Amino acid sequence: MVGRRPLEILRKWHQEHGPIVSFWYGTTPALSIGSYDIAHQLLNKRSSIYSSRPRFFIASEKMTNGLTTLLMPYGKKLQNQQRMITPMLDSRALRQYRTLEDMESKQTLVELLSAEDFDKSITRYAGSVIMSLAYGIRLQDMESEMPAKLLDLNTKIFEAMTSTYSNLVDLFPALNSLPPWLKPWEKPVQTAERFITDFHMENMATAQSSPWNWVQEAMASKPGSQISDKEIAYVIGTLQQGGFEITLAVVRLVIKAMVLFPNFLEKAQEELDRVVGPDRLPSFDDQAQLPYVNALITEALRWQPPAPVIPHATTEDDEYMGYRFSKGTVIIPNVTAMCRDPAVFPDPHRYNPERWLEDAGLQHNAFGFGRRTCPGGGLGMNMIFILVARVLWGYDVTYVYRDGKAVDVDPMGEKFPFASLTMPFQASLIVRGPEKREVIEREWAASGKDTNEILAGIGASRSG
Ligand code: HEM
Repeated sequence: MVGRRPLEILRKWHQEHGPIVSFWYGTTPALSIGSYDIAHQLLNKRSSIYSSRPRFFIASEKMTNGLTTLLMPYGKKLQNQQRMITPMLDSRALRQYRTLEDMESKQTLVELLSAEDFDKSITRYAGSVIMSLAYGIRLQDMESEMPAKLLDLNTKIFEAMTSTYSNLVDLFPALNSLPPWLKPWEKPVQTAERFITDFHMENMATAQSSPWNWVQEAMASKPGSQISDKEIAYVIGTLQQGGFEITLAVVRLVIKAMVLFPNFLEKAQEELDRVVGPDRLPSFDDQAQLPYVNALITEALRWQPPAPVIPHATTEDDEYMGYRFSKGTVIIPNVTAMCRDPAVFPDPHRYNPERWLEDAGLQHNAFGFGRRTCPGGGLGMNMIFILVARVLWGYDVTYVYRDGKAVDVDPMGEKFPFASLTMPFQASLIVRGPEKREVIEREWAASGKDTNEILAGIGASRSG
């Protein structure tokens, strides 16, 4: 139902008709909201009736057995999944995961000393942190084949969601009652379902042999004891899918902004040098003293929000400002329109981190709304912060030059399935001198590198 073009059409409609635009999605009434205040009034304040999802016939019911957290309607099943996930991603858990992010980000810094392709290294980082937490599966080096598998898995689901057949069946579910030979989507959807289920189940089996991970914690939990192994495999699979690619995309986006706008990089490096100094890497404890680095990340989330139109649906009739919405209305919180509202963000297409320092009251809503707010936002932000702070402390980031000419970087280059993910691009990361190299190598040499030991430590602190 979503793609680049519909997003642009919706944005135009908002420009012409204001912050609430209603239309028909097949036989279902739909609404796009382009104002943060209105989205807040409806999706946050009335979250008890604005937190379901539209029916995703192909992507959810057919391809992922109705078990993918992100796609399921609001109800008891989702609430049970949320009860299982919440303790794994609360603030206590996030503090316990720092040792893992610390080690993986140090490895990335060392890899970048010699890596030809920085993207491979940040991809390994995001994949390794998430796969270690989820299953105890570490991605040892940049040659690991796992990231390609993870990306393939996401692509399969996202392509199915945005395919013409999927749109048609979501619009007119009666089409699914046609005889099999008139349903060309049936076979590829079955193949994808097998691939996805097998992948989640294999990872779940592997998870049994590590000292601690989300699968084990889920299986031992009360909500986990009430559901099948297959559902647990899907819940943890959703965390892995939600966590990996979007976090990677945000790190990419910040690095891209640094290539395109070197004046902001310079100021961030000035802050890092002043606060952290030359003798050690930035740490999580520095975060509160690094407002400029934090603003680089926040502005990236506003500039090109990575999940800009994840739809909700209502579970009861409602009325707001003279509009009447019937039960089952699709509600699209149009985050891109909100983030580019010139009344809130002057010159909205410009990447300008300083707007966050000039106005402490600004808000962004890249993590969604109400009872469907992203449960992994805190983990994602920790993963992004520690890597970005360390990379910018240690490296200059510039264009790649070929035959004396800078290789183009497309500021808005993104692939747009369900999420809006920055496409890979070329950049040169050059260590900022021998002293920084020495610190990077020294801190990596001194770091614990055994993931099993780290996971055992996390497990011990979680049960303590
Ligand atoms: C910067 C990183 C991230 C961003 C910007 C982001 C953004 C979002 C957004 C916008 C939604 C939909 C919210 C809504 O419907 O209102 C969402 C849902 C979700 N996210 Fe994230 N996310 C990020 C990282 C993560 C991580 C690291 C994980 C897992 C560890 C994760 C797991 C999920 C899950 C499971 C859902 C589905 C929630 C539901 O439907 O109830 N996300 N995310």
